[in-house]
Formats: sequence, structure tokens, C-alpha cells
Amino acid sequence: MSGERKRNLKNFFQLLMRYKWHHIAAMIFSVLNSVLVLLQPIFLMKIIDEGITNLDMASLLKNILYFIGIIIVQNICEYFTTYIYSIIGKRFILDLRIRVIKHVESMSGEFFTNTDASEIFTIFDDDIDNIEQLASKMIFSVISDICIAIIMCIYLGHLQLELFTAILVIQPIMFIVQKKINRNSNNLAFEARSTLGEIIKQVQEYLMSMIQYIKLNAKNVFWRRYKKSSDEYVHKCIGLDMAYCKSGVLGSLLSGSVACIIFGYGGYKVILGELTLGGLITFNQYSQKLFQPVVSIAQNSTQLKRILVSVDRVFNLLNQENEIIPIEPICDLPIRRGDIYFKKVSFHYVEGKEVFHALECHFMSCSFNGIVGKSGEGKTTFINLLFRLWDIQSGEIEIDNINVKNYNINKLRENIDIVSQEVFLLNDTIKNNLTLLNENISMEKVVTIAKKVGLYDMILDSPKGFDTVVGDNGIKLSGGQKQRLSIARVLLREAQIVIFDEATSSLDNAAQENIIDLIFSLLKNRTVIIIAHRLSAVKRCDNIIVINNGRVTESGNHNELMEMQGEYYALYNAEI
Ligand SMILES: Nc1ncnc2c1ncn2[C@@H]1O[C@H](COP(=O)(O)OP(=O)(O)OP(=O)(O)O)[C@@H](O)[C@H]1O
Ligand SMILES: [Mg+2]
Repeated sequence: MSGERKRNLKNFFQLLMRYKWHHIAAMIFSVLNSVLVLLQPIFLMKIIDEGITNLDMASLLKNILYFIGIIIVQNICEYFTTYIYSIIGKRFILDLRIRVIKHVESMSGEFFTNTDASEIFTIFDDDIDNIEQLASKMIFSVISDICIAIIMCIYLGHLQLELFTAILVIQPIMFIVQKKINRNSNNLAFEARSTLGEIIKQVQEYLMSMIQYIKLNAKNVFWRRYKKSSDEYVHKCIGLDMAYCKSGVLGSLLSGSVACIIFGYGGYKVILGELTLGGLITFNQYSQKLFQPVVSIAQNSTQLKRILVSVDRVFNLLNQENEIIPIEPICDLPIRRGDIYFKKVSFHYVEGKEVFHALECHFMSCSFNGIVGKSGEGKTTFINLLFRLWDIQSGEIEIDNINVKNYNINKLRENIDIVSQEVFLLNDTIKNNLTLLNENISMEKVVTIAKKVGLYDMILDSPKGFDTVVGDNGIKLSGGQKQRLSIARVLLREAQIVIFDEATSSLDNAAQENIIDLIFSLLKNRTVIIIAHRLSAVKRCDNIIVINNGRVTESGNHNELMEMQGEYYALYNAEI
């Protein structure tokens, strides 16, 4: 077993230990259940040999009552075993799912850039589902199956050694054949599932982006891919059905031949008087019960391999280290002033492609700041670093004289509000998109801000006003309305640092002017950063920096920068 597998299994069992009392209770019921199952054929033998064969009515009645009693208690045990294992399994996977999401949400931008979201979803959904069996009854059922098989072997050998030897020869053949068929059908089932997963992914993407597909005239792309995957899926499913059928046929052939041996050879022994009729029937019952654990061990062993792969995938994800963790001493205080200092900051996403080189800049608390620069110069990166989605390679970023690495990451992010280039809206009501379910924001305030950003009339015209659902990522809204909504969202909140990254790019000049007025009048006591291609959006800022080739090449207010007649001047003149 590899070191990684050992570590993952250790983590798995550590988590499972939280349910140890449940496991102990389930084991007690399960052992009792197995013992009672083993007792049933013995009482059947007594019913036949002591009651029916001896024509003893009292003994027949007594043993029948025992037999019924055993069946009732055994089923009660079975009920509780299933109940407890169900609790363990469901709670365990719920726990694990929460862990996976919490872990993923704490990861860095690097992780999100390089990890496929559908891969995480498969781990969250499929792999954790697979693990459920291992967390609940599987481990113990393998142990109990082996124990039952051993006890039955001893008893059958004691009852009729020769007959038992004959059965014993057939068992390994049964075991090997069953295992082979199971492996084959498990592989086919796995392949069919992943093809189905692929189909679902394609359909999901198609349905979510239907309008884009239609506009791009790319419906054929979907249908071609869909047809190919569907054909593959049908082919695999037919193979799987045939494998199941083969397994059934072989199983019944084998059990039929075992029955022939038992009743043929066993019947001969009864005729010779070396075995009672009850003994023969008991023998037959036990040998059938002996097959069950053999088949289930064979099934479990192939299934186990697949489950272990899932254990690896889940725990490898959970063990993936997050580089974005606060360093000592940790500052748990919120950001009070919002004084931002980038000191000789160098940063690259990809080795050798530096975005910032010893970048220096200072945004004073409670000031309005602009960042300008050509596309791809690193304006959004600036925010990513301040928000600590990525960590810088050298230099320091300080907020209120504290390194961002020392802040409790949640506190840091709670105090920085961003209106991004890509507007993100929940498929929820307008009101919930504005408040993000923060109950402290009053409806009165929501209405006031909606009026100020110019959304109120549109909301009143909507079928359910503030309770109108905006659709998937705001599909029912125009680009400008979406931007207004995301601006209103931060104006309703109280973060000390507020950043607008191309927040007004979808608005016309007059609308942009109106929003900029609003920002300047409502956010006076915060540190505001405005990133914009249109310089009219930053013109009124106290301080504007120009980023070029990874450095701040110019800084000052609009008039100062115009006087310099440098890059800002050139950009401004190019615009008018
Ligand atoms: N996650 C990432 N991984 C690798 N490189 C990235 C990543 N994000 C951005 N980059 C690169 O970093 C550089 C700066 O990107 P950034 O998004 O900060 O530019 P920008 O100034 O905001 O541009 P725009 O004005 O077009 O929004 C670009 O060259 C971009 O290709
Ligand atoms: Mg950008």
C-alpha cells in the first residue's frame, strides 16, 4: 500500500471514529442477527427429525414456536442494524461533503485557476457516495461474512464430512467465476457512469448557455458531441446488461449443480442411514447460506478497489494544502481606516511572466483612488492581491500598517467589497441579490439605494417587484441593469474598502456620471478604488495611478497627471 493511500485511510478512519458508539451498537445487533440466522436450520432439522419423523406433536409445536421466535428476533436485529448503519452512512457523507466545500472555499485563486470545477463536483457527488458504503456496513460485513463462512464450514464438516468436501471443491470455482464476472460488470458500470456523467455535463452546459449557442450558430456542436456520447453510452449499457445476464446464468448453473450434488449424494447417504432427512435439508440450507458470504466477499473485494480510489480522490483534495493561511501574529480586528500600502510588490501567476515588478503605491484611508492602465497590465490582479486570492512573491501589502498575511482571512475579506468586471447574480429575487440575505439591511434602505442607482422604475415594472427572480446569472436583466444591481449591492454594505473594477463599463456616459456622483457622495468615509478604461470615471479621484509594465509609472490627481503630459495625458486625449 502506498504512503499516500495509508495517509488517506488514516484520515478516513479518524473521521469515522466520531461514530464509534454507533458502530459498536450496529455490530452487536449484526452479530446477534448472524447467530440467529445460523440457528434457523438447526431448528428446522429438529422440526423434521424430532417432530415430523418421530410423529411427536408436542416437539413439533415447541420447535415451530422456537423457529418463529428466532425469525422475529432476527428481523428486529436486522431492522436496527440497517437503521444504525443508515444513520452512520448518511451523517458521515454529509460531514464529508461539508468538509469538501469548506476546504474548497478556503483555497487560493491558483487552485481555482488550475482545477476543473466539474472534477470537484464529481468528487463531491460520486466519490463521496461511493465512500458511504465503506463508512457504514461494508467493513463489518466483510468481517462477519468471513466469520459466518468459517462457522458454517465447521458445522457442515461435522454434519457430513464427505458431502461437505464435495461442496468445498465447488466453492473456489464459484468464488473465482463470480469475482471475474463482477469485476467485468463493475468496470462496465463504471465506464457507463462516466459516459453518462459526460452527457449530463454537456446537456447542462447547453441548457445553461442556450442563448449563447444560438447566437454563435453552434447548436450543431452540441448535437454532434451529444450523439457521439449517447451512442457510446448505449453501447456500454448493452454490454453491462449482458454481463449481468451472464452472471445470473452462471450463478444459477452453479447453484443448480450444487443442489444436484447435495440431493444426489446426500440422498444416497440418507438411504444408507448415515444422514437423517432433517440433516440433509439442514445441510442444503447451510450450503446455500455459505454461498451468500462467498458471493458477497467476492463482490465486496472488487467494489472495495473502486471505493479506495474514491477515498484517495476525496482525501487527496482535502489534503491539498492551502497556501492562503494567516501568519503569526494573527490580527482578528476588522479594517478600521483602510490605508493601503503596496511596498515593492513583485508578483507573477506563471513563473517567468511577471505581472508586477517592485510596484509601489499608497492609497490613503477615506480617499477616492483610480487605477488606469492598458488591458492586461494588472489592474484586476491588484485587487486579487489585496483580497489575498493570491500571495505575492516579494514585497509587502499592508492595510492600516498590518501585512495582509497577518489578517484573519475572513475578517480581511469581509472588509473589502468588490464590484467585479463580471457581474455575478444569484438565481434569486432582486431583493435577495441586493441584500445577499443580510437581514440587517432594512427594506427602506434597499428602496432608497435602488432609487439612487436608477433601478427602482425597472423593479416596479417587474411582475413581482423586489420579489422578481432575476434568472440564471440575471438573464432577465440588461447588462447595464446587472451592473447597477451589483453597484447597489455594495452601496448597501459597509466594508471600509470598496473597489469598482470596470463597474460602469456597460453604462452610457450620463448613467456613468450619475453612478460616479453616487459613489462620491455615499462612500465618503471609505477607501474607494475605481478601475476604469474610460478616464471620465476616475477623473474626480484624489489620487490616480497609472500601471505600465508592472510598475506605477505616474500618480497624482487628474490635473497633476495632465500637467505631466505623460501616459495619462495621452490616454485622456485619445479618449476625447
Ligand atoms: N489566473 C491567472 N493565471 C495566469 N495568468 C493570469 C491570470 N489572471 C490574469 N492573468 C494574466 O495577468 C495579466 C494581468 O491580468 P489582469 O486581469 O490583472 O489585467 P487587467 O489590467 O485587469 O486587464 P483588463 O483591463 O483587460 O481587465 C494578464 O497578462 C493576464 O493574462
Ligand atoms: Mg481587469
